[in-house]
Amino acid sequence: GAAELGPYRHYMQKEIFEQPRAIADTLEGVVGIAPELFDGVGDNGTVGASAHRVFSDIDKVLILACGTSYYSGCTAKYWLEGIAKIPTQVEIASEYRYRDSVPDPKTLVVTITQSGETADTLAALKHARSLGMEQTLTICNVATSAMVRECKLAYITRAGVEIGVASTKAFTTQLAGLFLLTLALAQAKGRLTDEDEARYLKEMRHLPVALQSVLALEPQIISWSEDFARKENALFLGRGLHYPIALEGALKLKEVTYIHAEAYAAGELKHGPLALVTSEMPVVTVAPNDALLEKLKSNLQEVRARGGVLYVLADGDTKIVGGEGLHVIRMPEHYGALSPLLHVVPLQLLAYHTACARGTDVDKPRNLAKSVTVE
Ligand code: G6P
Repeated sequence: GAAELGPYRHYMQKEIFEQPRAIADTLEGVVGIAPELFDGVGDNGTVGASAHRVFSDIDKVLILACGTSYYSGCTAKYWLEGIAKIPTQVEIASEYRYRDSVPDPKTLVVTITQSGETADTLAALKHARSLGMEQTLTICNVATSAMVRECKLAYITRAGVEIGVASTKAFTTQLAGLFLLTLALAQAKGRLTDEDEARYLKEMRHLPVALQSVLALEPQIISWSEDFARKENALFLGRGLHYPIALEGALKLKEVTYIHAEAYAAGELKHGPLALVTSEMPVVTVAPNDALLEKLKSNLQEVRARGGVLYVLADGDTKIVGGEGLHVIRMPEHYGALSPLLHVVPLQLLAYHTACARGTDVDKPRNLAKSVTVE
């Protein structure tokens, strides 16, 4: 009811603003990196499976998820390969369950699901198990869900109940859980020095404060949303760790504003989507470092020549300045490996405020459901 909403207009906005607390709660009690953080829940208070044994045994990761949870998995691939050096495959659950794939029993199967009840993700897990992959872990927001019961190991995110159909705080807490998983796997494989462990933990503990200062960008995002509310198409560009964030930004915009949005890896702009750019197609770019900006500057000429307008979410330490056809919002800091958790927030706010300007049913977008428990 209205009382629960407090100062917010919608649950989506409330949940976006709950992210600092959701992340703090998710990390509460994490005093050091240890596989035990992922130990099985067990029945009737008994101790579940041991993550330590499982982590030392596997040499691949297979992530299965749907929707926004799939994009958190896509982000985690960069961490798992970059930091833990573990080959990682990320698959859309509804694709994986029906295709012929090459199973490897030394795989850790990781499902990511806010609800723990998504039919395709549960079926994909069972499919993986039927192929002989017994080592299963879930990153899930509901401790009592079917998914937590089905998986050997679990990490319960503490986003709290998420009501808005478009997922926001569940996504960032999944990323926090996946980052911890990356570090725990790196440690189990002897690839995490004490120094790195201390540095990453410090960066994680800084997240709630960092998120707070990103949320303070809301007025700047509202001014962007006034432009977006009048468009029917938008293009999102990102690269590396932020390519999945561009995908998530486009998904958020589609879900709540009904604006057609798509995301591309920035280097692919000239291989197709540039042909679509007109004054009616704003181009959002996520986290360009200066190397990418150099490339963007030449793209910018081409975008400008077509009347296109760039909206750049720049790193804190980037030198780019706004101008004609180039809007820049600078992030408060440069966040390193955890940058995706921060960069997604302005995109959530952009979708939210654009939806408000268009008068859509933000918390219950047409045709969409919070939890898809049927195929
Ligand atoms: C639905 C929701 C999305 C969610 C997806 C996966 O499509 O509208 O917000 O990302 O399901 O849900 P899950 O509970 O498995 O994360």
